[in-house]
Amino acid sequence: MNILLTGGMGYIGSHTAVLLANTGHQVHIYDNLCNSSPSTLERIQKITSKDIGFTEGDVRDTEKLADVLRKEKIGAVIHLAGLKAVGESSQKPIEYYANNVQGSISLIQAMQSAGINTLVFSSSATVYGDPIYLPYDEEHPTKPTNPYGRNKLQIEDMLRDLSVSDKEWKISCLRYFNPVGAHESGHIGEDPNGIPNNLMPVIGQVVNGILPSLNIFGNDYDTPDGTGKRDYIHVMDLAEGHLAALVWLQSNPGCHNFNLGSGDSYSVLDLLYHFEQASGLKIPHQVVGRRPGDLPEYYAKADKAEKLLGWKAKKTLSDICSSSWLWIKSSKN
Ligand code: NAD
Ligand code: UFG
Repeated sequence: MNILLTGGMGYIGSHTAVLLANTGHQVHIYDNLCNSSPSTLERIQKITSKDIGFTEGDVRDTEKLADVLRKEKIGAVIHLAGLKAVGESSQKPIEYYANNVQGSISLIQAMQSAGINTLVFSSSATVYGDPIYLPYDEEHPTKPTNPYGRNKLQIEDMLRDLSVSDKEWKISCLRYFNPVGAHESGHIGEDPNGIPNNLMPVIGQVVNGILPSLNIFGNDYDTPDGTGKRDYIHVMDLAEGHLAALVWLQSNPGCHNFNLGSGDSYSVLDLLYHFEQASGLKIPHQVVGRRPGDLPEYYAKADKAEKLLGWKAKKTLSDICSSSWLWIKSSKN
C-alpha cells in the first residue's frame, strides 16, 4: 500500500517508516521539519535500502497536502505530525491548538478532497488524566489535565464524529504510553531539538556531556522505590502496532481506540539501572523535588490490541536500554 506519514521525520514516524518500507509498503513522508532534521531521510533510506518519498510541508497547508495525496496515490495516512511537549502546551496553548487540532482538521479536509478514508492517529495515554483505576483500559474516563492532552482528545472526538457521519471512514486512535528505545541499527533514535523533557533523552544528554547530571523528580511517591513508574514501550514495538492497526482497519470501518503499551510499569530507578547495565556507565544523578503535574504511576491494559490487532509489545526494558545506548553512542560521534 502507498502510505503517507505526516510527521514521519520525527522519532516515532521515522521508526514506523522503516518498518513499513521493510514490509513492502511504499512510504511518503510529509513533515515541516519543525522538530526533526532532513538527514533522517537518508538514515531511513540507509537502513531500508528503499526509496522513501518526502515532501517538506505543513499539515495546515490543505491544498499542498491534498496534491501530495493524489500525486502519490496514497491509500492510507498515519498522522503523527504534532507538537508534543506537555509543559510547553500550557505556556503556548494557542500554538498547540493551531498546530495539532487545526492541523488535523486540515488533514481530514485534504483526505476528503483526495477520496482517502483510512487513517491511523497518534494519540496518547495522556487523554485519560488522573487514574480512577489502573491499568487504564480504553473505557477509562478521559479527562486530560493539560492543553496537549485536550488537543489529543478533541482530535479523537472529531474523528469519532466523522466516522459516525460517514460510514466509509476507517480510523484508529492509538493511545501510546511512554515510547522509548531506538532502531537496532543505531542510525535513528529520539533526537529532540532543544532541551528535552523526557527521561531517556535527558539521560542521553547526560551521557553526551550536554547536561551534568539527571534530576530525578521525586522519590517520595507511593511506589516501591518512591520514584515515578511508567509503561515504557519500545518504539519498534510501537511501529508494529501501526502496521497491525492498518491491516485490521481494512475490514473494520468506524473509529477505534487502542492502548499501545507493554502492560508493565517501571520506576525511574529501574530504567536507570537497566541503562547503566546496558552501557557500562554510571549516570550521575540526584533526587530533586517532584515535577508539577507528574502522576505517581500509570500503565496500560493492552488486551484490546492483542485480541483485535494480534499485537503485543515484545521487547524488554533491557532491549529498550541497549538500543537507546547504541543510538546515544552513535549520535555522540
Ligand atoms: P516528534 O516531534 O519527534 O515528531 C513529530 C514530527 O511532526 C516532527 O518531525 C515535526 O517536524 C512534525 N510536525 C509537527 N508539526 C507539524 C506540522 N504542522 N506540519 C508538518 N509536520 C509537523 O514527535 P514523536 O515523539 O515522534 O511523536 C509523534 C506523535 O506521537 C505526536 O503526535 C505526539 O503527540 C504523539 N505521541 C508521542 C509520545 C512520545 O512520548 N513521544 C507519546 C504519546 C503520543
Ligand atoms: N523524569 C525524571 N527526570 C527527568 C525526566 C523525567 O525523573 O529529567 C521522570 C518523570 O518524573 C516520570 C518519568 O521520568 O516519573 C517519565 O517521565 P517522561 O517525561 O519521560 O514521561 P511522562 O510520563 O511524563 O510523559 C510522556 C510524554 C507525554 C505523554 C505521556 C503519556 O512526555 O507526551 O508520556 O504517553 F503524554
